[in-house]
Order: sequence, then structure tokens, then C-alpha cells
Amino acid sequence: MTQTASANAERPLRVGVVGVGVMGSNHARVFAGLPGTVLIGVADPDVKQAEFVARTLGCAAVPDIAALLDLGVDAVTVAAPTHLHRDVALACIARGVHVMVEKPIASTVEEGYEIIEAARAAGVTLMVGHVERFNPAVEAIKEAIRGEDILSIAITRVGPFPPRMSNVGVVIDLAVHDIDLIRWFTDSDIIEVQPQLSSAVAEREDIALLQFRTASGVLAHINTNWLTPFKARQVTVATRGKYVMGDLLTRQVTECFGFQPDGSYSMRHLSVGHAEPLRSELLAFLRAVRGGAEPAVTGEQGVASLEIATRCLTTRPVPFTPSRPAPRVVAG
Ligand SMILES: NC(=O)c1ccc[n+]([C@@H]2O[C@H](COP(=O)([O-])OP(=O)(O)OC[C@H]3O[C@@H](n4cnc5c(N)ncnc54)[C@H](O)[C@@H]3O)[C@@H](O)[C@H]2O)c1
Repeated sequence: MTQTASANAERPLRVGVVGVGVMGSNHARVFAGLPGTVLIGVADPDVKQAEFVARTLGCAAVPDIAALLDLGVDAVTVAAPTHLHRDVALACIARGVHVMVEKPIASTVEEGYEIIEAARAAGVTLMVGHVERFNPAVEAIKEAIRGEDILSIAITRVGPFPPRMSNVGVVIDLAVHDIDLIRWFTDSDIIEVQPQLSSAVAEREDIALLQFRTASGVLAHINTNWLTPFKARQVTVATRGKYVMGDLLTRQVTECFGFQPDGSYSMRHLSVGHAEPLRSELLAFLRAVRGGAEPAVTGEQGVASLEIATRCLTTRPVPFTPSRPAPRVVAG
């Protein structure tokens, strides 16, 4: 679509998806079912995959972004591999098309800023796909800690190796979700990072234990790896008045409160919604496109999380030599 592509609330929005692998095919499925939205096409150089998705959802399949833009779209999701986010997003923005860029926003902080600047100059909406914010369990945790004095946050995000390895490790692929959550829960910036990384099997880091301090004084910890045989996603938040525990997969959220001097306390399960996080995310994106308001996850927030993740990869912990003799190795 031309520079005039706009968020006219009167007509359906014409949307597309660039890259319909694991994540992009989900974006296409959800877009196809949203009211006031027409999925025009999907673009992917893997023609068989593009045609499969297009046939299933009843839209056009094209091999590249230029062909998708020629079909006339108002908004697209960019779900191509991360190293292509910058080029694909800039091509869309240059044609006045609103962009939802999957996380992480780009390969580097500099590329992220390029996307932000281009979107601002063109006056198009840019949102970043930190979908976990739309997980109803995460929303319930955010609500439970509203107005509380947060002391610490611990997040576990572990599982087996993904079927297809990309060229990033667990910090950029997984921990970036939780870095975003820590910033969002605390409404504060991370100002100190203490990473411990290891590559047990893969070329890139596949185990990461990351510690942070926010400007507001909250201590946070992320435990992530690809070496756990099952998937687990858990969040705990300690505040002065509560201890909130959430399982992001089963969507059970429990809070302990009413701490008494004798050590007793009360406990309750919180009510958690059932909405599909990706659907909520795309609805939020399209609301921003139509209304012109700031999107739920801005480009700046996406870059901030990427910057912290990148720092985790470049910050080296300081080793020291213990003053005690090493433990004796007992033979036999
Ligand atoms: N938010 C989340 O929870 C989440 C989960 C998974 C992936 N992601 C993100 O989504 C993006 C894609 O990841 P994935 O796991 O779906 O990868 P994937 O490899 O499954 O899919 C990527 C697709 O992009 C296609 N592609 C390659 N070059 C292209 C080009 N020039 N133009 C258009 N398409 C192109 C590939 O053929 C492939 O089909 C990454 O940025 C990743 O970080 C986000």
C-alpha cells in the first residue's frame, strides 16, 4: 500500500505476515480469525510452506516482501528470522505499512533504533511481539502486585532444545521475554546485570543464570536453559505484603498474604482469564493502528530488553582464586 495506508476505522484492515514458519503461521491463523481484518497474504521464500499456510487460511502466497506489499496491505507481522527484521521492517515502513515485529525487535540495538526512527518518521505504528505480556497468568500477576512494594522476582523458563536451532542462544531467544517482564512488572529499568552463561551442548549459550537490579531497587533472577526435558515457565514475585506464584503454562496464579508475626499467612488462587495471548497481542496492535495511540509494547521497550539481553552476553563475571586449598580428590 502507498503512504496513504491508514487506520481507517470504517473499513476492514488488510493485513499480511512475512515469514510463516513456527511463529508467523500462528500470526496468520489469528489474523485470519479477527473481526474487521482481512488476511491478504503471506510471504515466505519457502514457497511450499507459504502455499500450505495460504491454502489453509484462504489468502495469497507470495515469495517475498515486495510482492506482499504490492498486494496492498495496511499492516504486517514480521516473523522472518531475527537477522532479517531490520530489512523487512524498513521495507514495510517505507511503504507506509504498520509493523508488528516479532521479538527480539532486531539483531542489534542499533538496528532496533533504525526501525524505531523509520517508523516515527513515516508516522506508522511499530509494536514488538513480547507476547508473554498478554498471557492471562502474567496479567493476573501484574494485577496482584499493583501498588505493592516489589522486593524480588524470580523467573524460570526452561525446556528441551528447539527442533530447529537458530543462530542465537537462550539469552536472546528465551531470556529476552523475561527481561521484558521484569521491566514491565517493576515499571523500572534494569541497571545492573550479573550473568552466568554456559554452552553445554550447543555452540551458543544453552544455560543462563542471570541476575539483575532495577533502578527501583528490585532484585531479579532468570533461570533459563535448553537442557530440561520438559517445558517450565514459572514466575514468583516477593513484595513486602505478598508472595505471588504463577505458572505461565497451566495459568495457575496463587498469592500468599496477611503475614503474621507467628509465621502464619493466608493463601488464595487468583482468577485468570482464558484468552489466547497472541490474539490479545494482535488485537492490541490493530487497536493502536486504528486509533493511532501508543502500542502496548513500543519499539523503545523492545530495544531496551534487547540491550539488556546483549549486555548479558558481553558482561564477564569477575573470577577469583579461593584462599582455601582445593578439596582433596579421593581416589577409588
Ligand atoms: N514471541 C514468541 O514467543 C516467539 C516464538 C518463536 C519465535 N519468535 C520469533 O519469531 C521469529 C521467527 O521465528 P520462528 O521460530 O517462527 O522461525 P522459523 O524458522 O520457524 O520461521 C521463519 C520463517 O521465515 C522464512 N523466511 C526466511 N527468509 C525470509 C524472508 N526474506 N522473507 C520472508 N520470510 C523469510 C523462513 O522460510 C521460515 O518459514 C524470530 O524473530 C523469533 O525470535 C517469537
